[in-house]
Amino acid sequence: MRILIVGSGGREHALAWGLAQSPERPELYIAPGNAGTETLGENVPVAADDLDGLLALARERRVDLVVVGPEQPLVAGLVDRLEAAGVPVVGPTAAAARLEGSKAFAKAFMQRHGIPTAAHRTFTARDYDAAVAYLDAVGAPVVVKASGLAAGKGAVVCSTRPEARAALDAMLREGRFGAAGDEVVIEEYMQGEEASVFALTDGTDYVLLAPAQDHKRIGEGDTGPNTGGMGAYAPAPVVTEAVLARVRREIVEPTLRGMAAEGHPYRGILYVGLMITEDGPKVVEYNCRLGDPEAQVVIPLLAGDLAVLFDRLARGRLREVNVALRPAAAACVVLASQGYPGTYQKGFVIEGLDEAGALDDVLVLHAGTRRRKDGAVVTAGGRVLAVTALAPDLAGALEKAYRGAGLIRFEGKYYRRDIGRKGLLRLRQG
Ligand code: AMP
Ligand code: GLY
Repeated sequence: MRILIVGSGGREHALAWGLAQSPERPELYIAPGNAGTETLGENVPVAADDLDGLLALARERRVDLVVVGPEQPLVAGLVDRLEAAGVPVVGPTAAAARLEGSKAFAKAFMQRHGIPTAAHRTFTARDYDAAVAYLDAVGAPVVVKASGLAAGKGAVVCSTRPEARAALDAMLREGRFGAAGDEVVIEEYMQGEEASVFALTDGTDYVLLAPAQDHKRIGEGDTGPNTGGMGAYAPAPVVTEAVLARVRREIVEPTLRGMAAEGHPYRGILYVGLMITEDGPKVVEYNCRLGDPEAQVVIPLLAGDLAVLFDRLARGRLREVNVALRPAAAACVVLASQGYPGTYQKGFVIEGLDEAGALDDVLVLHAGTRRRKDGAVVTAGGRVLAVTALAPDLAGALEKAYRGAGLIRFEGKYYRRDIGRKGLLRLRQG
């Protein structure tokens, strides 16, 4: 089996690692990949947003399956084009990917189908005055969101009215979020703890991966600016069995049924970003893909053959596979470049990769890395590595991931020391 993985982050290295475990020994191509994925397959220098290039690559290498990591090509219609060319693919069509690509669409969809989420209104520049009046009426705290794709930076949580007004102006008047901010969603602030639940679905049947928790802020104690994610762990104890049953019944199932009923069956990986509130789980956002760094913990916890699972999913035959989760815990610590998510330098040599990778049950997943001509692996992005570990319990997984993280050296290495702390606290409280 020949499989093309689209993307270049830690998520895609985790996907490549998971697929490489398959007894089918698939041939892997990663476009464009990183210094980690090249140890598992062939990196091909085609960008993740180059739809023509990806289509040509899939044809040229006669791939049997494409697995799409990031949202941009999904929202842009890569799946529609691959399917038209007869290539099976794990990912939703552009129409289904609107669940991530348009928050205005997602919120209206949830309203139509009675799916629990924050109360909201959508506005464009034409109804600017109405948006201001709405902000005045609801007060603070409130969340102001650019509707379109904004690389995770489109949501502004505002604790005061002036902040909310400034966010609104930045989007609707100053165009500071580009086209993504042409439509703005203003929504109620939800109190609670966040979690990520992933459904693998062929549009009809679905299976859930282990519920995970991300750490979005750069600083310890969830302080400072938002990042792509500084670490993750799974299963997240905040998602109890009872909560998960509600997530299935009140969120995942109505979402899949609703998309099918509206003529856009959702096939691929549905990421449900949740707030676990006093009233139960509510949707913060949908994404149309795996999370990064959540993929790094949920994929290693999946027992069984990922290549077969994805193949059946892409062919609408998910019910043929039995999916089981390992009775273990996984933790991932992201090593970032000093300065991220602001400006940072690249090109520093990374040492200790082999030592960390030699630890039992430790996976050193690459994100922003590049192999230099002399063979040295150097930093090439904000999030550089995702050191992931498996253990029978969360405390053990965190301990191993941190041991691995400590063995890796590069100039400006930064990481949070409190990954998983919320989970450990919950476990201790019983
Ligand atoms: P989003 O881009 O919609 O995922 O939002 C990014 C982050 O903003 C989320 O992960 C939350 O931490 C926060 N956030 C978004 N919407 C809300 C909300 N309605 N209430 C509280 N926090 C929110
Ligand atoms: N970890 C958050 C995301 O992938 O969007």
